[in-house]
Amino acid sequence: MSLMIFDSIIILFGIIIIIYKFLLYPKIRLIQKKRKYGDKIKVIHHFGPGLLVEYKKSYIQNKDSLSFLRQMANQNGNNIQAYTFNIGTSVGYSFVDPDLIKLVHQNHEAFQKIDVSQAIAYLFLNLCYLQQVKASRSRANSQENLSTMMKLKTIFHQSKIFAQKSPIGQAKSCNEITIEEIIDNFCALFIAGTDTTGNMTGAALYFLSLNPKIQEEAREEVMQIIKQKTNSSDLKELYNCLQFEDLAKLDLINSIFKESLRLDPPASGVLPRISKQDIKIGQFEVKKGDLVNTHFIYNQSNPKVFINQGQINPYRWMKGKEQANVFNFTPFPQGPRNCIGQHLAMIEGKSILINFLLNFDIIPIPQKEVKYETKVIYELQPDELVYFRKRNN
Ligand code: HEM
Repeated sequence: MSLMIFDSIIILFGIIIIIYKFLLYPKIRLIQKKRKYGDKIKVIHHFGPGLLVEYKKSYIQNKDSLSFLRQMANQNGNNIQAYTFNIGTSVGYSFVDPDLIKLVHQNHEAFQKIDVSQAIAYLFLNLCYLQQVKASRSRANSQENLSTMMKLKTIFHQSKIFAQKSPIGQAKSCNEITIEEIIDNFCALFIAGTDTTGNMTGAALYFLSLNPKIQEEAREEVMQIIKQKTNSSDLKELYNCLQFEDLAKLDLINSIFKESLRLDPPASGVLPRISKQDIKIGQFEVKKGDLVNTHFIYNQSNPKVFINQGQINPYRWMKGKEQANVFNFTPFPQGPRNCIGQHLAMIEGKSILINFLLNFDIIPIPQKEVKYETKVIYELQPDELVYFRKRNN
């Protein structure tokens, strides 16, 4: 009997700890922050998945996972510099004030980037490697307890792409790169560089389909450069006579991409980091272990920063016009850990867009309900929003 009472007490104690840790602790910490920072901070709290619930709610209500942030930016007279949230039992800050964003990015050593291997694995599993993953699983020894990421890496190791000249992980000298490092770098560049650039270009095509006048001007901008080089009307020849240096002369097309990145940034913020130490960001006290990120879409939707923020207006960027504070527009972050592929992304995007402009009219598919969804990246949905009509040049 006394053993049963003892068991019950242990179970009850366990339940109280779980309720406190999962339900009460994050809520209490967020309320404390609100008390401390008043209207400078907004609290987003949901039990369980926390912030992710807010994304889902925004998507269901407004067809935009980040409408809560856009609305926050649009509230008259607001003074918000950050919002604070929970994800499960963890509590975090997301900074939206440009000067605080700057402080986070400049102090990058205070923060540990989170392991995104699961997200990467998810992408791979759903894309081209599904078949190989299945094959590798069936080969795998049941005693093996590798993470999904390791399994994916194994696929690369076994593939013919990386004919193994040196044993995995063993560099012959400190100047030699290992196969392991090549694979890690390949994964990083492949993941960071494909869907982001693809979605940026896709969004630009969609915005141009809605604005035939801007589309025609962009086509004209390309033709102006081409006309100085050839009289040919052969489309392939027209495209091929463009050279790398010409891309820098395309002021309108460059501005179209910037406007597209403002309205629909493929990365709407940086990935959350974990604070390695207690640190102050402006007046906000970040504790060791707290999550920290910065969200760009807030400033990019802020009417005080961008007049008529909801309108597509590439002309606001033309002739090198930039924001007075560069941290108001950071689709490729600023600071020491900014995007190393940003120039490549713009070169790729411009090359693709020019090809489309020369060959096709870009037309919106009528009656499509457009949504903005955060998957691994922030993207327009559904996939088919435009169609292309061959031009008779
Ligand atoms: C429109 C296209 C792109 C966008 C919007 C974009 C955006 C970003 C963002 C927001 C980050 C910071 C992530 C964070 O700190 O949590 C980042 C980092 C990075 N990007 Fe990009 N990116 C694009 C294209 C590319 C391309 C084409 C490559 C390479 C081929 C690339 C390689 C990287 C790498 C390696 C990092 C990590 C840098 C570091 O941590 O030091 N990105 N990018």
